[in-house]
Amino acid sequence: MTSPTGSDPRVALVTGANKGVGRAVVEQLADLGTTVYLGARDEERGRTAERELRADGRDVRFLRLDVTDDAGVALAAKRIEEESGRLDILVNNAGISTPWRVPSLTTADEVRQGFETNVIGYLTVTNTMLPLLRRSEAARIVNISSVLGSLTAAAENHDPTGAFPDGGFPVILGYSLSKTAVNALTVMYANELREEGILVNAVSPNWVPTDANDHSGILTREQGAVMPVRMATLPDGGPTGTFTCSDATGTGQDLPW
Ligand SMILES: NC(=O)c1ccc[n+]([C@@H]2O[C@H](COP(=O)([O-])OP(=O)(O)OC[C@H]3O[C@@H](n4cnc5c(N)ncnc54)[C@H](OP(=O)(O)O)[C@@H]3O)[C@@H](O)[C@H]2O)c1
Repeated sequence: MTSPTGSDPRVALVTGANKGVGRAVVEQLADLGTTVYLGARDEERGRTAERELRADGRDVRFLRLDVTDDAGVALAAKRIEEESGRLDILVNNAGISTPWRVPSLTTADEVRQGFETNVIGYLTVTNTMLPLLRRSEAARIVNISSVLGSLTAAAENHDPTGAFPDGGFPVILGYSLSKTAVNALTVMYANELREEGILVNAVSPNWVPTDANDHSGILTREQGAVMPVRMATLPDGGPTGTFTCSDATGTGQDLPW
């Protein structure tokens, strides 16, 4: 698929994309003809993923990117600018999990670590890439979130996705707080950038098997990537400031904030 404004392929960046959800998003975007920068903090893991994904002719380019390294993020933006001149799609995906702990047993360091990557990392990458996104005529930002960031779900002690049917709503405080903050960032960026036509949405892949959750889940990684890719390729005038998740039907589901 080409950019909405001409014959050039769209240009995308997916952070934390050497494995898991991010890698599946890279693969699906590249299959649409998008040039995709595969952000990875580790060169060997990033190059391996790049090599495997390029084998089928996709334009996937490893980009060294640790979202907690401000100078490194600036260098990454410089390379995208030099090679591609703009960015059409940013998928903030790089994330870490924290121990499954209720608030009274959670340490300050667990919360700090969750915020450092999952929140400040998203903020740093977004603000650094924004000048390149502003050069696109149809920029899209997707923030990968989680139902665990939903305050409504937490207040009702109920998981609306049905991923955790037996035990109510899991409490992983450091992680959950970080994803609630991702949702807040999403709404605030969506409001700020609405008039420029930049659409910003929070999306959960749902519960998919990756290293982050000991390979448990109810959807495949490929199914989990469907809604992030749909929100990354929205047409002009599409929704902004929404919170959705992938589901087994491929239709997607609205999530409560
Ligand atoms: N899996 C699920 O069920 C699920 C559900 C809801 C939301 N999510 C979200 O989906 C996203 C991806 O998670 P995943 O499940 O695919 O986990 P994963 O397989 O562990 O992948 C996480 C990715 O983030 C990268 N990363 C971590 N810290 C980074 C940093 N400082 N800079 C750059 N990259 C960094 C990792 O790189 P390394 O390989 O170098 O560690 C890895 O590529 C996360 O935002 C997560 O919260 C996942």
